[in-house]
Amino acid sequence: MSHTQQDYFSQACENNKAPILEQLLPIFANSRNVLEIGSGTGQHAVYFAKHFPHLSWQTSDRPVYHRGIHHWLTAQPSNNLRSPLLLDVTEPWPLTQKVDAIFTANTLHIMSKAMVEAFFHGVGQHLTIQGNLCIYGPFNQQGHYSSDSNRQFDVHLKNNNPSSGIKALEWIERLANQQGLKLKIKENMPANNLFLHFKKENESFKNQ
Ligand SMILES: C[S@@+](CC[C@H](N)C(=O)[O-])C[C@H]1O[C@@H](n2cnc3c(N)ncnc32)[C@H](O)[C@@H]1O
Repeated sequence: MSHTQQDYFSQACENNKAPILEQLLPIFANSRNVLEIGSGTGQHAVYFAKHFPHLSWQTSDRPVYHRGIHHWLTAQPSNNLRSPLLLDVTEPWPLTQKVDAIFTANTLHIMSKAMVEAFFHGVGQHLTIQGNLCIYGPFNQQGHYSSDSNRQFDVHLKNNNPSSGIKALEWIERLANQQGLKLKIKENMPANNLFLHFKKENESFKNQ
């Protein structure tokens, strides 16, 4: 199968990268090693790495996305950008040391509930104490969709894959709390998405 540049391009990334950067700037100011889960096209990675020259940005994703990520990393190289790790959240994470920041965008609604649980288990295992977890994407709150378009989007997701779908913020927060993380920032973002910042305040007893 041949790929065109279009295959490796996401308009959503172009639209959301600047508003996400604004949120990340103060949070990652003192971070050193960011692990991105589900880098997708790699567009976010090349953009954010340029704005955080003091830190190392580690891309990762499932194998099918690696070609696209390499494409963007080759087109827009930065010394602080790392080639993608083969990381499926449901498998052991291939990290040699803990990271002090984890970023993921538009992934949790693609994942099944079991995958999201595996994601938080991995975060609990691999994020240092005082480390930052930043998540961008659509979430439901108090049993409600944030917009009609998100309701339609959820139907579309479930038609494609019945185990995917927009998750409840309250459930996400519970999973984070179980791993010793506390929600510090919940910001409304363009296109009815949320930006969430969690800080790891203690080790989960499950990971000790
Ligand atoms: C809609 S794309 C978002 C990509 C990119 N972060 C963005 O904002 O454009 C969903 C991403 O979630 C990733 N993903 C889904 N299930 C995953 C899993 N089990 N482990 C790791 N990544 C997963 C996909 O591989 C894909 O990169």
